[in-house]
Amino acid sequence: MDKFYLTTAIIYVNALPHVGHALEMIGTDALARYKRLTGYDVYFLTGTDENSLNAERRSRELGLPPQQYVNQMADTIQSVWRKLNISNDGFVRTTAERHVATCQAFFERVRANGDIYKGTYEGWYCTSCEAFRAEEELVDGCCPYHPGKKVEWLHEENYFFRLSRYQEPLLRHIEAHPEFIEPEIRRNEIVNFIKSGLQDFSVSRSSMRWGIPVPGDPSQVIYVWFDALLNYITGVGYADDPAMFARYWPADLHVVGKDITRFHAIYWPAMLMSAGVALPKRVFGHGFVYQKGERMSKSLGNVVEPGAIADEFGPDPLRYYLLREVPFDRDGDFAWPTFVQRYNADLGNDLGNLLNRTLSMINRYFGGQVPEPQRADWETNFGDRSLIELSGQTVAAMEQHFNALDFDEALVAIWQFVGRANKYVEENAPWTLNKTDRARLGTVLYDLAESLRLIAHFVWPVIPTTAERMAEQLAVPLEVRGNWPEVSAWGRLAPGTRVTPQPVPLFPRIVPASADKYWRGDIDEEGKRV
Ligand code: MSP
Repeated sequence: MDKFYLTTAIIYVNALPHVGHALEMIGTDALARYKRLTGYDVYFLTGTDENSLNAERRSRELGLPPQQYVNQMADTIQSVWRKLNISNDGFVRTTAERHVATCQAFFERVRANGDIYKGTYEGWYCTSCEAFRAEEELVDGCCPYHPGKKVEWLHEENYFFRLSRYQEPLLRHIEAHPEFIEPEIRRNEIVNFIKSGLQDFSVSRSSMRWGIPVPGDPSQVIYVWFDALLNYITGVGYADDPAMFARYWPADLHVVGKDITRFHAIYWPAMLMSAGVALPKRVFGHGFVYQKGERMSKSLGNVVEPGAIADEFGPDPLRYYLLREVPFDRDGDFAWPTFVQRYNADLGNDLGNLLNRTLSMINRYFGGQVPEPQRADWETNFGDRSLIELSGQTVAAMEQHFNALDFDEALVAIWQFVGRANKYVEENAPWTLNKTDRARLGTVLYDLAESLRLIAHFVWPVIPTTAERMAEQLAVPLEVRGNWPEVSAWGRLAPGTRVTPQPVPLFPRIVPASADKYWRGDIDEEGKRV
C-alpha cells in the first residue's frame, strides 16, 4: 500500500485557535481522509509549538509556570480539534522528551557537517512571528504581519546556520521539482527571495531560558523556528523509531499558511540538505481567512471561535463552509450570512432533502426495501445514463481536485452530482410512476438510493459525520479504507437493503441570527467568556 505522510503547521499555544487555523486543519484533514478513502496508508501529523517567547510571556502574565501553562493550552487546543473531527494520527508537542531528543541530535549533525558557527546578531525582532524583520519591512515600527505589534531590538551572540551555502542547491532543487512549492504565486515569491541572496540565520538565543538547550552549551536555547520545523521528523520517529522513519519520511506534503511558506521552502530544506536527510516532496502555502477584509488574528482580536460553532451545529457545517467558500490557494472571508445560506441551501435543501425524500419514497412505495432496478430501457433512457455517467465523472473530478487541494472545486463537482440526482427526481416524478409504471419506479428509486450511497462516500472527506449519518439511514456500510475502484463504482448497492423506517433530517433549517456569540471578542485567551 502506498504511504502518504502529510502535516499541518504546529500552532502557537499563547491563544485559542481561530477559524483561520481551523481552515488549515480542516483542509489537511479532508485530504488525509480522501487519501485513506482511495487506499493510501496515511499518516497525518499536527502538533503544538510550545517553546516560543510568546508562550513563556503569556504564562508569566498569568502567573503560571510555563510548562503548566503550555500543558493546559495543548489540551485545550486538542479539544478544539476533536470538536472539529480532525483525524490526525500523531501529535507532536515541542516540549516533549522525544522532540527534544530529535532537536539535539539534529543540531549536532548539522554542526558536525560544518554548518553551525558562533557569531553576533542584532536586529528588529517580532515576538509574534518569532523572527527578525528587516528595517524596510516595518510599518510605523511594527511588524508587517502583526499591525500594532512593536518590534524589539535584539543583540546577541548566537549560533548561526550557514544558509548562504544552500542558495544554489535550493534554486536547482526548485527548478527540477516545480511541485515542491505550490501554488505558483508562492513559488515565484520564494524563488525571488532566494535570488535576492540568502543570509545565514541565527539558530539559538542566549537571552531566553525557555526552550531546548543547545547541546554542549546550556547558556543558549535552540531558536524556536529551527526547533519547530523539526517536529515533522520527530513525529515519524527520527530519534526513536527508524522503521517508522524509513516508512514515512520524506513527507509527501506540508500544508502551511502563506506567511510561513518561506520557513518551509527555504530554511527547512536547507537544514535537511545539511543533515543529509531527504527533502519533503511538496509544500503548499494556503491563503488566509479574513473577516470583513481584515486579517483574522489573535493580536487583532477579531476572531471567530471554531469550537463554539461546532458546539452548536456539529463540526460539518463549518467544515463544509470553509472548504466550499475559501479557495484554498487564495484568501477568503468568514461571513456569517453566507454561512447560514450555505447551511440552508447546500446542506439542508440540496443534500438533506434528497436523502429525506428518497428514503420516504422507498418506505412509502416499497415497504422500506431498496427495489431491484429493471434496466430494460437503460440504453435508451438518457436520464439514467447521464446520472450514472456523471457519478463516474465526479469520481475523476474528485481525484483531480483533492490532489490539487482545490477543495472548493471538489465540492462544486460533488454538488453537481447532488443537483443531477435532485433533477432526476423531478424528471421522473415518482409519485406519478407509482400509478403508471411500478417497474420504472423501482429503477428510479434504486438509482436515487445508489446515488446517495455514492454521495455519502464522496462527501466523507469533508463532512464525515454527515456521511456516517447518511450511510446509517441508508443501511449501507461506509467503506472508507481503500477498495475505492469498487466502492466508487455504480451498482454496489444491494437491492433488498432495508433502509431506516424513520428518516431524520440531516440539517434542520437555521434562521439567520447574529454571529455575535461566536466572536472571540467576548472570549479571553483561556477561552473564558468575559
Ligand atoms: N508555530 C508557527 C508554525 C510552525 S510550523 C513548523 C505558527 N503558528 S501560528 O499559530 O501562528 O499559525 C499556525 C498556522 O495557521 C500557520 O500555518 C498560519 O499560517 C495559519 N494561520 C494563521 N492565521 C491564519 C488565518 N487568518 N487564515 C488562515 N491561516 C492562518 O506560525
